[in-house]
Amino acid sequence: MKYVIANWKANKNLPEAREWLKIFFSQYVPNPDCTVVICPPFPLIYPLQQEAAGKKVMWGAQDLSATDRGAFTGEVPAYTLQDLVSYAVVGHSERRQAGETQSQIEQKLMLARTFHIEPILCVRNTEDVIYEEAAFVAYEPVAAIGTGNNEDPEEVVKMKKQLNLRTQVKYIYGGSVNPDNIRAFASHPEIDGYLVGTASLDPAAFAEIIKNI
Ligand code: PGA
Repeated sequence: MKYVIANWKANKNLPEAREWLKIFFSQYVPNPDCTVVICPPFPLIYPLQQEAAGKKVMWGAQDLSATDRGAFTGEVPAYTLQDLVSYAVVGHSERRQAGETQSQIEQKLMLARTFHIEPILCVRNTEDVIYEEAAFVAYEPVAAIGTGNNEDPEEVVKMKKQLNLRTQVKYIYGGSVNPDNIRAFASHPEIDGYLVGTASLDPAAFAEIIKNI
């Protein structure tokens, strides 16, 4: 099974997202060996899900709160996300850059698990801690994110060894994946999937990535 995860980041409003779905589903060819996960901004998850009812896609959150439910204004806890999403990105370098701490990442992983959400732990290099709770680890070298300069697939495979992942952990790569370079990654069975930012904003490009795997 390969995983293709769209990380829209802080992009799209509801009309734009609806338009995205329309175009995506006109081009997307579901593949039984490929799980597609869409991670929109929080408020769009539910309406898009309704719109895509019956379609072969899964839903994910781009983050979740490190706090449990309670008096935490503005936070979105795993408690609220349960049953809405199957996956949640945790520890993305953009969140770490915004001040997210190791202990918050650990909390998020635990809370996601408690509420039956599969966390996808992002790491930037071998220095970021890989927690036992993470069954999905996404290697996202900062220099490759949003720059168009993807890391060489051979280097991505080497990094998998250096990260010393347990054998059952799914190894995801993220950083400037697009419809052209995906073939070079897809020829490596060591890579279990992709976290796609910029190219996922274009529904045709995202459908093409899935097709080219
Ligand atoms: P990118 O983003 O595809 O735009 O490089 C990937 C990510 O940050 O998850």
